[in-house]
Amino acid sequence: MNKRGFASDNNSGIHPSILAAIEEANQGHVTGYGEDIYTQKAIEKFKEFFGDDIDVYFCFNGTGANVLSISTLTNSFNSVFCPSTAHIMVDECGAPEKISGCKIIGIDTLNGKLFPELLIPHLHGFNFEHHSQPGIISISQATELGSVYRPEEIKALSELVHRHNMYMHMDGARLANAAVSLDLSFAEITRDAGVDALSFGGTKNGMLLGEAVVFFNKKLSANAKYFRKQSAQLFSKMRFVSAQFLAYFENGLWKENALHANNMARLLADEVRKLGIEITQEVEANGVFAILDDKIRDQLQKEYFFYPWNENRHEVRWMTSFDTREEDIIQFCKKLKELLNG
Ligand SMILES: Cc1ncc(COP(=O)(O)O)c(C=O)c1O
Repeated sequence: MNKRGFASDNNSGIHPSILAAIEEANQGHVTGYGEDIYTQKAIEKFKEFFGDDIDVYFCFNGTGANVLSISTLTNSFNSVFCPSTAHIMVDECGAPEKISGCKIIGIDTLNGKLFPELLIPHLHGFNFEHHSQPGIISISQATELGSVYRPEEIKALSELVHRHNMYMHMDGARLANAAVSLDLSFAEITRDAGVDALSFGGTKNGMLLGEAVVFFNKKLSANAKYFRKQSAQLFSKMRFVSAQFLAYFENGLWKENALHANNMARLLADEVRKLGIEITQEVEANGVFAILDDKIRDQLQKEYFFYPWNENRHEVRWMTSFDTREEDIIQFCKKLKELLNG
């Protein structure tokens, strides 16, 4: 059996209940492209979480959801501000820029979180035709550095951008991890805090594939269906994404999975700290960042694949998942200890 490591929360498999839901939906024929009962029911579920006046568009993957959100909220002459560590900035091969035409501007942060004081110096050039026009900000919840925004921090940002007639996108590839970390509802950390469009993640928390873009301002989403098709995110056999979301929400599976992943991250951090390893970021979701000697890292990677995060700082990233077991952490730390002891 493949070893469970800590490279990414998308290295895990599919939660058995999600797999069962795919199997169950695999009966007979239904109309394609979302005109099916599974998709209707899944959209109703989203409305239970976020309220009736939303628009929901299912996508294949997180990059696609971000591209769809950004394209829909902007014109090609806009700029998009985000932390310099944002997935849209560094891990999407420029897809949001290519497809939306916008300029993406990364802002350096301490812990992956954007704050008004970091954004304000960038808010200029309005109405000046030689400048890309500030259009939206994009923040990730939880962030790529495992930190989590409090609702008041999101509100402070949304109020600032709305005052400038801009909009706010949230990359919620790990929204469930953030919600359980704060013990708040999805709505409290998104629409209630002023988010206009949300990429809602499923893949990293137990689904095979599937994300959703949720628009809280329906005036903005009029063209989303065209942008989804143009960005190749309209799935003909949509029922198999929708059925997964139904299972994901049933009996709070999303919560159980995210809570487990977060707890495992805390355990992993505690255990590696005991070995004298420095943890560089607060562990608020399911990511652990640590300083590791290059030689030890290379040796450990022979048995456990994981990504270096910041090679200059000798920083690595470990992610836990819904299926991480305590014994996986114990084995990993045992190996690490052996290497540290030479
Ligand atoms: C913050 C964030 N957003 C989005 C994604 C989704 O990416 P993908 O297109 O690989 O599903 C990821 C995956 O690593 C991510 O970490």
